[in-house]
Amino acid sequence: MKYFIANWKANKTYDDALRWNDEFSNAIQSDSSLIDALNSDRLTIIICPPFPFLHTLKPLEQLSKNIFIGAQSLSDKANGAFTGEVTAEMVQGLVQYSILGHSERRSNYGETNEMLAEKTRLSLAKSITPVFCVRDAQDTIPQGITFVAFEPVSAIGTGNNMNANEVLQKKRSLSLPQNSVFIYGGSVNPDTVSDYLHHDEIQGFLIGSASLTPSSFLDIVKKA
Ligand code: PGA
Repeated sequence: MKYFIANWKANKTYDDALRWNDEFSNAIQSDSSLIDALNSDRLTIIICPPFPFLHTLKPLEQLSKNIFIGAQSLSDKANGAFTGEVTAEMVQGLVQYSILGHSERRSNYGETNEMLAEKTRLSLAKSITPVFCVRDAQDTIPQGITFVAFEPVSAIGTGNNMNANEVLQKKRSLSLPQNSVFIYGGSVNPDTVSDYLHHDEIQGFLIGSASLTPSSFLDIVKKA
């Protein structure tokens, strides 16, 4: 199984999201080998749009049992007097996955290891599987994590992806949980993805810029 996780970050309008939804849906429906690969558990696609568009994209889950919608973050608080927060409880049933610990959240919003441990706890308590991002071996991976996304900061949004051998070398420095799923993220696009696909140890990809159009995202998926 290979996991392809689209992270739109803070991009797109409501109209863009509707268009992305239609294009993606049409592309999947007209590609029977892609549908076979999804339905036979060779591929999983997880789409993480901004919160306002979760509902817009939710119907895409009907296309295959291995297409899911995910959240890009979750609150470190449970429901209560926390104006503006989106809690795990609110999106339970709407998303199956959450991206936690992305380096952009750590550096722009001061998310600490303690906050991320709490987000992880709340996410798991609502049966939302965290995809936990680490920049290097310094970032603590909380209890209960299965999906770990290694995202070197120098590779995010720069076009300077880290090559597969280097990724595997760095992987050995991380204290990964037993039976974890190891994901790489950082400038993965239809050209750079092939290098990683030969390595079974790299089990998926977190894809930012190249997920903004369904065609480039699906070009990556189809390489697998
Ligand atoms: P990128 O982003 O693919 O644009 O490098 C990856 C990420 O930040 O998840």
